[in-house]
Amino acid sequence: MRLFCVSGVRPPPSRTFLRKRNFPMEPSRNWVAEPVRIALLGCGTVGEGVVRLIRRNAAMFERKIGAPLVLAGVADRSLKPDPSLGLDAKLITRDSAALVMRDDIDIVVELFGGHEPARTLILKALAAGKDVVTANKALLAEYGDEIFRAAGKVQRAVGFEASVGGGVPIMRTLREALAGDRHRAVYGIVNGTCNSILTMMTEHGSEFAQALAQAQRDGLAEADPTLDIEGHDAAHKLCLLVTLAFGVRLKPAQVYTEGISQITLADINYARELGFTIKLLAIAKDDGGIEARVHPTMIPSHHLLTGVSGAFNAIYVHSEALGPSMYYGQGAGQMPTATAVMADILEIARHRLAGARGGAHPLGYPATMVDRARVKPMDDVLCEYYLRFMARDRPGVLGSIASILGRNGISIASVIQQGRGVETTVPVIMRTHEARERNLKRALAAIRRLRVVQGAPAFIRIEERL
Ligand code: HSE
Repeated sequence: MRLFCVSGVRPPPSRTFLRKRNFPMEPSRNWVAEPVRIALLGCGTVGEGVVRLIRRNAAMFERKIGAPLVLAGVADRSLKPDPSLGLDAKLITRDSAALVMRDDIDIVVELFGGHEPARTLILKALAAGKDVVTANKALLAEYGDEIFRAAGKVQRAVGFEASVGGGVPIMRTLREALAGDRHRAVYGIVNGTCNSILTMMTEHGSEFAQALAQAQRDGLAEADPTLDIEGHDAAHKLCLLVTLAFGVRLKPAQVYTEGISQITLADINYARELGFTIKLLAIAKDDGGIEARVHPTMIPSHHLLTGVSGAFNAIYVHSEALGPSMYYGQGAGQMPTATAVMADILEIARHRLAGARGGAHPLGYPATMVDRARVKPMDDVLCEYYLRFMARDRPGVLGSIASILGRNGISIASVIQQGRGVETTVPVIMRTHEARERNLKRALAAIRRLRVVQGAPAFIRIEERL
């Protein structure tokens, strides 16, 4: 850190000068640190939010870190800045690679999203001695190992608070506030799009397609919603949660992933009758091996996570000493996500100004200590299940379904059959006791072959004791 005199009458003293003469190393009212200079890669929704926060809170940030925070450049291929941003046109460039390499840049904030050029630019920035902040969960889930190792090697920081839970400070909480505990399970509502759609289905009785169309009209779902509704975005976030919670790494391909597009209003209503609500959960458990799965889940309607509705996110953590705790807030959106980016920028700026390098292990462990997870195969996972069959309403039908389940070691907890359908089919709903996924799949394949059962049976996993 270099300091300069506010009055400007003296040349700035060097750090060595200050140390030799026992000057305080902290900035004081007379000696102000040189600015911390930021390059922003991508000025879309969240980038704009970051620009707004830097402008709106400049004086407060300066007081907080003891130095001015300066936006020194913005790279964006198609940026036509909103005049209300007050962005100086001279700051804007299309050449992100050149911006990242500029000598005067201290922190590179990557908000391009996607794998490339984000990965290459982050690696270049780290190699050039810059610290990095990113909100890019897809990139970190796939290439986090490479990026965190590269950062560790050159002792630079990578902040990624905004990558999971939007404005909910879950990364920092797991890494710091909960560092003294051992975690057993994490249950996350980490995709606002899915949570909004399921909330609309539950509260307004909409079918999936209707709720999705409404979410798109409300700007809650993308025009191409696949990444969200098929659970991939949640799987990316779960990879990061697993690393922070359990200190091991895994890739999205190792996360069992199922989205919400097959959920029907009928399932939502039957779940309610059984005392459950359906949520898309990202679930990770550590009982020697790691369970990592994203799927629609029935949770008790009185559970805290049930009250998380719309675009809100929440992460429910089970820790050995602390017990359960929950972190809740706005999971997306311009300003909530921008606050998470800003928190990383400020933390890194403080570190830089204190002369420290590398942050305090962004993953909560040195990257070299984070081993590959031993992931439990989905077939070995134990769950309770909700099952829905469309079956002929004839004597013995329930008996044949039950006997197939029994032969596969699956015990039935309750059954609902509504209506009569001698000529047509009626829904038969069952709730099972805990069973192994492998056995359930085998039983459902056999039930599907019964002539009295029409179509593929539907099933939803139940987490009653979360
Ligand atoms: N698409 C995400 C969601 C927000 O729907 O939650 C960004 O992580």
